[in-house]
Amino acid sequence: MSQSKRLSSPRRSAPFSPKRAGFRVKAIWRAIPACCLFPFAACSGAQSALDPAGEEAAQVATLFWAMAAAGLAIWLIVVATLVYATRSNRSPFGEAAAGRLILWGGALFPSAVLILLLGFALWLMPTLRPWNADAAEGTLGIEVTGKQFWWRVVYRAPDEDPVVSANEIRLPVGRRVTLTLKSDDVIHSFWIPALAGKMDMIPGRTNRLSLAATKPGVYRGACAEYCGTSHALMALPAIAMPPGEFRAWLDGQAAPAGTGHGRGAKLFMSNGCGACHRIDGTEAQGSIGPDLSHIGSRRTVGAGIMPNTAENIARFIAAPDAIKPGAKMPAFGMLPPGDLQAMADYLKDLQ
Ligand code: CUA
Repeated sequence: MSQSKRLSSPRRSAPFSPKRAGFRVKAIWRAIPACCLFPFAACSGAQSALDPAGEEAAQVATLFWAMAAAGLAIWLIVVATLVYATRSNRSPFGEAAAGRLILWGGALFPSAVLILLLGFALWLMPTLRPWNADAAEGTLGIEVTGKQFWWRVVYRAPDEDPVVSANEIRLPVGRRVTLTLKSDDVIHSFWIPALAGKMDMIPGRTNRLSLAATKPGVYRGACAEYCGTSHALMALPAIAMPPGEFRAWLDGQAAPAGTGHGRGAKLFMSNGCGACHRIDGTEAQGSIGPDLSHIGSRRTVGAGIMPNTAENIARFIAAPDAIKPGAKMPAFGMLPPGDLQAMADYLKDLQ
């Protein structure tokens, strides 16, 4: 007997058994709660809009739950009406009664619900609007520029020199921060779901997003607009810190971390890396690629895709395109492994 016959024939020929059918119905009923609860597994975590750690994200979550509750209530009313209609034996509605039912249930009720939800959404919105960002003038500004496939991050505190960084964003908890969002190549979208809503980064345009982190922690941001081959590999760790710690961190970032001395540093310069990358305090002053002045202190390598270790830095230098397809950095796999390791160790030490 062939495999397919053995599998299909007994089922098709089995007589109907009320006992077995009853068992199946019971199994379906038991599976329903599990299926309903399954989506809630995504409600927490570093990249969840439903586990908010920022004022704006909390408002988005409130709006979501209000809309979900309203949707559920209306669904229950519709199902109850349906059950009533199929079970009741009452005579059909007269024309006037049917007209009233359509007017109240089909026009006035949905309009009232939609107007209420729209009003609630608009009432929540002001802090997401640009004029609120204007009100935050004089506070810390962070300029984030989307690139294929990384993020340039510049901290601009009032009356201080800008501090350039990349691929990670740090924020003081309890302080409102204005983000200036730009792009140099294609459209990207900046989104840290746990902290605030999403906003596009459009070439030739400057968008502003105002946000305030409320809970210290490490969150995950992502590019939310398809921007090329490695769009899915364009993440952005976001670290919310107590204001004092943030201040100390920013002061540390403003000072150079390393010199151009030592074997790894010399290799970095002699291989021309400084034409694209900047390391503060050295002759490397390129601005095409990510600023590496304090790369050793970042959590990840390659914009959120690998833990920051000397091994992973060496892997990235040797074959950026293999780790991040479409990356513009040339590969340096032709260098001896010892040289790659020396450069990676030098970069990892830039704390
Ligand atoms: Cu950048 Cu998608």
